[in-house]
Amino acid sequence: MGIRIAVLASGAGTNLQALLDAWRSQQFRGADMALVASDKPQAGALKRGTALQIPTLALDPAKFPNAAAFDQEMLVHLAEHNVDVVCLAGYMRILTPAFVQTYANRILNIHPALLPAFGGRGMYGHHVHEAVLKSGARFSGCTVHFVDEGTDTGPIILQAVVPVLDQDTPEALAERVLIEEHRIYPRALALYCEQRLQIAGKRVHILEKA
Ligand code: GAR
Repeated sequence: MGIRIAVLASGAGTNLQALLDAWRSQQFRGADMALVASDKPQAGALKRGTALQIPTLALDPAKFPNAAAFDQEMLVHLAEHNVDVVCLAGYMRILTPAFVQTYANRILNIHPALLPAFGGRGMYGHHVHEAVLKSGARFSGCTVHFVDEGTDTGPIILQAVVPVLDQDTPEALAERVLIEEHRIYPRALALYCEQRLQIAGKRVHILEKA
């Protein structure tokens, strides 16, 4: 049996879609899409999962006393679906330590900037692109990384660079970065499924194809 993947997404789910497309074209070495889950019952991401008959789950944070209880419930569902690896795809919650420990080195995240710059609490979605423009940086991009107990601090798997243009707005920059996100996230997950990612401290070594 292949690796069982869960994708957690809060929004439109275009990164989820990129992962689903890659999965459907057999890029994840026999992996199974076990679950698409969201903290937003209305998330477009859930519809994308349903469209492919993948089990979906919406958990409403308002129904839980705190983040730890929410994550505990999420972990129960992940266990029920025998999930091996968790992909965060525009998931706007910071995972609690219990979650990160349960899936240590088995959680991937996509961030819309070149980490370690423009990461951390409050740096998500349009906030990231606004900060990049304000900084005068000439390049931005995106990062796929393993999730550790910090926020956006885990070992970096892949990055792609996008130039910042003089006339850029946060929306225009976001759009160009997103194209690269859709390209590198499936590649990173494919490398994971092929067991070609070896973590050595902060560095991720990408092993040659067996
Ligand atoms: C993506 O740009 C992703 O990198 C970002 O949210 C967007 C979700 O879009 N994630 C973060 O900012 C996490 N810190 P999507 O729902 O269309 O994939």
